Amino acid sequence: MQIRAEATPLSKVAAKAALVFVSKGKDPSAQVREAGTGFVGAFHTLWARETFTGAAGQVAVLHERTGARIETLVLVGTGDRGAGLDVPRNGAADGAKAARDAGADRLAVLLPDAPAAHTAAETVVEGVRLGLYVFEGYKSDKSKKAVAEAVVLAPASKLAAARRGVEEGTILADSVVLVRDLGNEPGNVCTPTYLAEQATAIGRAHGLDVRVLERADMQALGMGALLGVAQGSAQPPKLIVMTWEPKGASRRTPTVAVVGKGLTFDSGGISIKPADKMEDMKFDMCGGGAVLGVMQAVARLALPVRVVGLVPASENLPDGLAYKPGDILKASNGTTIEIVNTDAEGRLILSDALAYATSKLRPKPEAVIDMATLTGACVVALGSAAAGLMSNDDRLAARLEAAAETSGDPVWRMPLKDRYREQIKSVYADLKNSGGRDAGALTAACFLERFVGGTPWAHLDIAGTAWGDGTKGVSSRGASGFGVRLVVRALQAWGSK
Ligand code: BES
Ligand code: MN
Ligand code: ZN
Repeated sequence: MQIRAEATPLSKVAAKAALVFVSKGKDPSAQVREAGTGFVGAFHTLWARETFTGAAGQVAVLHERTGARIETLVLVGTGDRGAGLDVPRNGAADGAKAARDAGADRLAVLLPDAPAAHTAAETVVEGVRLGLYVFEGYKSDKSKKAVAEAVVLAPASKLAAARRGVEEGTILADSVVLVRDLGNEPGNVCTPTYLAEQATAIGRAHGLDVRVLERADMQALGMGALLGVAQGSAQPPKLIVMTWEPKGASRRTPTVAVVGKGLTFDSGGISIKPADKMEDMKFDMCGGGAVLGVMQAVARLALPVRVVGLVPASENLPDGLAYKPGDILKASNGTTIEIVNTDAEGRLILSDALAYATSKLRPKPEAVIDMATLTGACVVALGSAAAGLMSNDDRLAARLEAAAETSGDPVWRMPLKDRYREQIKSVYADLKNSGGRDAGALTAACFLERFVGGTPWAHLDIAGTAWGDGTKGVSSRGASGFGVRLVVRALQAWGSK
């Protein structure tokens, strides 16, 4: 779908449907009249019946032709002022879905009230693009309704800002869509090799340097943890390294590494998972997918920060050659790990990637952020309301919390404590790969902490947020693309703090 900004008045625009945002404070009929829709009569009825008040989350569809070109008017409530960006973002999404279902193939969207036209346009574009997202390439029936084009209408004085907002919102939404597509691809298509190919293609298209470390490279680097997880699969593991080098970068340019778990199918291995919902474990690469999305957005936005994206990619399967409970693996930083559960594989593949990010990259990153569908325990703790955030650095954690505020990707910080560090001590090795049920999300984070060597590091456990069944607002069934907007917003703000 194409989205652009124009200064055309609503009465002249060539679209079948229009989205108008209506807030709760001001007289709604005045707002509809000011929008110049010619739908005032129909709206009055609705207003009089109190079925639409402009409350957040409300959507009303009006069909009326009073000389206007618009046949369908979709009213979207934005509630009280200062409700935050989630309200217009999700409102734009729900409004766009209503317009699509009413048969509109071309959609006009009036800018919602916001402190800046740039932000308003960006928010609306994210909402429309993500709300209309579907993953239906494998369905034979191709006749579903779709919106082909959307036009954001801005007053002439705000057009330039709105255009920039549309551009930025499109870049962010495209990256989220990329991650949704990668996540929704089945495991027989989205293998480690496929992820590496996609990363290479993104690099070529957007000017990123992409290297892929193969099994032999991992052996040379002593990455026994990543190799151990991969040894039960016929699919070769990959360690994808993508680098964004801004123009004119110098030694003073900050470097940030972003690492994502790219487990393309997690059966649990020898400690096999129950069959129920095991198919969802194709989503276990969503952290790695989010890294590809972040790298694409960073390059397209040409951010003035050096960003290195790393994705350890592997399958986790039971096999005659698979790693087993009781095995001891040695990671590339020399740490020995007793395997007590082969289903705690994410921390293993991440350990070698984190050690690589913090000890092999030049220049050394000043911070490392990882994203991983790491623990069921995090889903128990936070559900889908927020990703778990664990960090050894308050400043880095604050950067992510600030980005979460507006990005649409919420986080909730959780503690790292010696009690949890104790839980993963092994009798036979330096660490064991599971600390049991208690505080499972936190013992997993404490495990990762052992591989960053004191570098400021933040871990995002996205197990509860990376995919879902919800279809409200910007969410869609399947992969959510969580983490892309969060990390890109944090990186955008990096230079200014
Ligand atoms: N990929 C799973 C975590 C997961 C489970 C994410 C359910 C989303 C939904 C991870 O590899 C895993 O299996 N973790 C185990 C760890 C345990 C064995 C210590 C878990 O959470 O049960
Ligand atoms: Mn697992
Ligand atoms: Zn997993």
